[in-house]
Amino acid sequence: MKRALKITLVVIGILFLAVQLIPRDHNDGRSVQPNNLTKVFPVPASVGAILKKSCYDCHSNRTNYPWYAQIQPFRYMLDDHIRGGKAELNFDEFGSYTPRKQRSKLRAIGESLDEGSMPLSSYTLIHRNAILSKEDKQLLVNWVKSTSDRQH
Ligand code: HEC
Repeated sequence: MKRALKITLVVIGILFLAVQLIPRDHNDGRSVQPNNLTKVFPVPASVGAILKKSCYDCHSNRTNYPWYAQIQPFRYMLDDHIRGGKAELNFDEFGSYTPRKQRSKLRAIGESLDEGSMPLSSYTLIHRNAILSKEDKQLLVNWVKSTSDRQH
């Protein structure tokens, strides 16, 4: 093997090992979540299942980490999405939001469904089963509407 190639491979190897040391978040709260969305609004099982499947990894206190989450820099990217997602909307903290914030988050969920912006495409690239089917979307849209109506 050419010397330059050998050196390059060693450097890549060292960099790979070094990034493994980047600290990791652990978003895996298992305890009962007293402020979960279901404590404030009726959430039919069908709707709850869709939210869990497609949204909870980034918008709840519990992420189902895939195997590649053990490897950096993938974990770092995932942690970043989870931090950003939870800061905007956390279904496990929904009950602690003011009624005004709950309303605005419901509206934002409706908008994200209209735009098709969620779940993030970088996520559905790998998590194919999180993609919302037409039926999933319709169920969520109807739920957002009926929940917003009862909030007035
Ligand atoms: C891979 C992580 C990930 C998944 C899965 C995900 N989101 Fe998000 N979501 C984010 C991030 C990060 C943000 C904040 C930055 C942005 O808007 O892109 C966000 C923002 C949002 C917002 C904006 C909140 C506001 O107040 O403007 C809504 C609403 C939302 N997500 C709804 C959903 C819904 C509904 C699902 C499931 C159908 C979902 N998200 C799935 C990562 C995710």
